[in-house]
Amino acid sequence: MNTEQEVTIQSKFIEKVKEINNDKKLKYSILTMGCQLNENDSEKLCGMMEQMGYQKTDNQEEVDIALINTCCVRENAEDKLYGKLGELKKLKEKKGIIIAIGGCMMQEKHITDKIKQSYPFVDIIFGTHTLHRFPEDLYNALKEKKKIEDILDIEGKIYEGLPIKRDSNIKASITIMNGCNNFCSYCIVPYVRGRERSREPRAIIEEAKKLAKQGYKEITLLGQNVNSYLRVEKEKNINFEEYEGINSFATLLRAINKIEGIERIRFVSPHPKDFTEDVINAIADCKKVCKLIHLPLQSGNTKVLKEMNRKYTKEQYLELVEKMKEKIPNLTLSTDIIVGFPGETGQEFEDTLDVVEKVKFEQVYMFIYSRRVGTPGDKMQNQIPEEEKHKRFDRLKQLVESQIQENNQKYLNTIQKVLVEGESKNNSKMLTGRTDSNKVVVFEGSKELIGRMVELKIVSEHMWYLKGEF
Ligand code: SAH
Ligand code: SF4
Ligand code: F3S
Repeated sequence: MNTEQEVTIQSKFIEKVKEINNDKKLKYSILTMGCQLNENDSEKLCGMMEQMGYQKTDNQEEVDIALINTCCVRENAEDKLYGKLGELKKLKEKKGIIIAIGGCMMQEKHITDKIKQSYPFVDIIFGTHTLHRFPEDLYNALKEKKKIEDILDIEGKIYEGLPIKRDSNIKASITIMNGCNNFCSYCIVPYVRGRERSREPRAIIEEAKKLAKQGYKEITLLGQNVNSYLRVEKEKNINFEEYEGINSFATLLRAINKIEGIERIRFVSPHPKDFTEDVINAIADCKKVCKLIHLPLQSGNTKVLKEMNRKYTKEQYLELVEKMKEKIPNLTLSTDIIVGFPGETGQEFEDTLDVVEKVKFEQVYMFIYSRRVGTPGDKMQNQIPEEEKHKRFDRLKQLVESQIQENNQKYLNTIQKVLVEGESKNNSKMLTGRTDSNKVVVFEGSKELIGRMVELKIVSEHMWYLKGEF
């Protein structure tokens, strides 16, 4: 069976569940734990749920079906899941709700074993490769009243044409590739998301054009390694249809840049090792591509980078940054950093601080190294004691925060283009939006501006946001 046929079968299950529901206006909740890819998957789950006749709610008391889309990139997600299951157990006992857990963590056998043993009241467990089959799984759980476990350990395929219900009507994500072949030694993603595979150019462009028609202004292209888009396909001579001249990430950016109505394009995450000249030129040439580039560093020390299997050195990273700064006017950078990777000495950690000092990132996402079962990092002998990891984390945090404060000054009294996203969460009299560099700007204005691009003068800075005025 091909993927198209599989999706058609699921649309039949969508109808069947809808019949069972029979206009009862049942409600569902969804908790998403992971990255933007997982959020995009959740939007697809929501799309299926709504087509099956369910309505979304945030009020736990009204829930008939509770969905959880899990992440396993770091340990804290596990505690969060078990905490949530404790809460849901009471609801299950009270009113017999259906509990379904999906996502990356479900691809780990030691986790599903634990769920089956300690949380036997969970109805459906599904993985990253069986998301599209959720209607069938739900149908079986409702109709046959049995426990469903639908997990595949495969390379993974791409399913087009799934329903989707997006969280925003201004900004949208498009998954352009799935899986990862890099096997950074700390990372679980390649094991739970399968091998790297790219979506067909035509499918991506059609999705982007549809979004533009619906009035979306910003598109974020998603993948674990976006700048190697179509590389595996080319290496393996897998046939793909060249559409609008797209045969690489750079040409994809150029094609999306031409779509009328779209005003901003972002992408996460690129890998420094695949940041080729053509991608840099495309970013520089394409007006709509935001000049904030996320460039995951992970560590600033060449030996640690080697142990991490990142395939670049400290010097190569810094050279890449210089080259990008030269070619891309108004470039800003954000990054991911892990502290306390096995074997990282205090001296080696200083290299990470050194790179942060030098590059002056706009934003740094900092993580304490977390052992992941099945990864090479977990088997390394020289794990760093928790206390030491926290000490290093605090030092990095201090440096980053002082840099952000300093960096905020450069915005004062400048005019910034801001895409208005909605009312401010803390003050409904204010609006909130983001700059090209993804800085939050809060300002006073009329609600008609939501979804529009406005020019604001920045009048004050407050660490995590800026205040603007017309
Ligand atoms: N593919 C992307 C994102 C991977 S996950 C990339 O390569 O950048 C997001 C971030 O989580 C990573 O960049 C890394 O900084 C962090 N991360 C991954 N595994 C981790 C682990 N075992 N412990 C701590 N942080 C981790
Ligand atoms: Fe994980 Fe590395 Fe792949 Fe990113 S590139 S998902 S960090 S293995
Ligand atoms: Fe987490 Fe899976 Fe994303 S492990 S970071 S949700 S790909």
